[in-house]
Amino acid sequence: MMSIMDMLELIRTRRSIRRYKKEAVPEDLVEKILEAGRWAPSASNSQPWEFILLRDRKIKEAVAQAATYGTFLADAPLGIAVVIDPKASTHPVEDGAIATQNMLLASHALGLGTCWIGAYSSVYEEKVREILRIPKGKRVLSIISIGYSAESPKSTRKELEEITFTDFYGRKS
Ligand SMILES: Cc1cc2nc3c(=O)[nH]c(=O)nc-3n(C[C@H](O)[C@H](O)[C@H](O)COP(=O)(O)O)c2cc1C
Repeated sequence: MMSIMDMLELIRTRRSIRRYKKEAVPEDLVEKILEAGRWAPSASNSQPWEFILLRDRKIKEAVAQAATYGTFLADAPLGIAVVIDPKASTHPVEDGAIATQNMLLASHALGLGTCWIGAYSSVYEEKVREILRIPKGKRVLSIISIGYSAESPKSTRKELEEITFTDFYGRKS
């Protein structure tokens, strides 16, 4: 079992990576990433998700062109689109989001860089649905770009004391 220090280190050191080496993502790692998504929790264990591996250059380019905040997907060796069925769960967005985060963290643990490209309710969700031939009624929650990182970005977070209260909103512990 992983120690809490290792766990926090993994969570803290994951960054959104938008530039990748050309090297392909090994197939055994792809399977581990998907496995992390599959084992995410979901409302009533509804598992309203499906994952589309984006491998074809033309498909990745088409999605990247549509997703204006995810143009870097075109140059990522791999993408994963997380598709949700809103009728299958009382909390489909949360379920899909957790599956996505599980895959981001698993990728990081495997030495891979990822970025969450927000597709759900974006101006380009319809276009992405079309390109990926998503059946009627299903939605694209996210697209994950994956590859070996070619950058080392920094990030920041608000301090815990800024965002934490005790017993009721506004009460400082
Ligand atoms: C729901 C969601 C949607 C996001 N959409 C995009 C996106 O479309 N394009 C992008 O470059 N980054 C996207 N990101 C990544 C965030 O910009 C990033 O997580 C944030 O700036 C913090 O940086 P870090 O992940 O390196 O800690 C998204 C993240 C989340 C959680």
